Amino acid sequence: MHSLGILLSGRGSNFVAIADSIDAGRIPDARISIVISNRAEAPGIAIARERGLNALVIPSKGRPREEHDHEVVAALKQNQVDLICLAGYMRLLSPWFVRQFPRKILNIHPSLLPAFPGLEAQEQAFAYGVKVSGCTVHFVDEELDHGPIIVQSAVPVLDGDSEHTLTARILEQEHIAYTEAIKVVLEGEFVITGRRLVGNT
Ligand code: GAR
Repeated sequence: MHSLGILLSGRGSNFVAIADSIDAGRIPDARISIVISNRAEAPGIAIARERGLNALVIPSKGRPREEHDHEVVAALKQNQVDLICLAGYMRLLSPWFVRQFPRKILNIHPSLLPAFPGLEAQEQAFAYGVKVSGCTVHFVDEELDHGPIIVQSAVPVLDGDSEHTLTARILEQEHIAYTEAIKVVLEGEFVITGRRLVGNT
């Protein structure tokens, strides 16, 4: 049984999509062992509690990154997670954190990386005038929004779009892409050459 740790900071819709996929058997042989938020008021952590999951708030505000990260890593290790999913976790992981879990941390980003890393990616893409955007699930390495790509999903930008409608259509694809990426990683039937992840079956 694979043991997942989820880190979030806000709404938690990607977390809910992952939890629903596990419940529905779309991610077989997995469970969520712990959900951690760095913000007490994150709606996602309330949902985790309602669902009876192990939910923990480790506040980050005003604390040195390494100190906060040590606490988060300790909780993840205590719960023996073998995969960590960042789900709207709006905090950079320290290089030390990343090194604790090599190739075991996934992130979802609402653009087709390497375009528009960082904050408000959908707004950046919309303002740039791209005709296609989307989302990316990737391994986390020590650079921001940078590790090897597992799944990408393209979303066309329509003439009638606003930032809001584009963001909503990307989010729908995020929920599908995250489940797909977790399955790929848990099944483990791939190799990574350079930055390229390809199936080995
Ligand atoms: C999602 O759109 C996710 O891709 C984005 O934050 C949102 C969280 O929504 N993450 C980033 O921008 C990370 N750089 P959620 O809390 O409903 O999952």
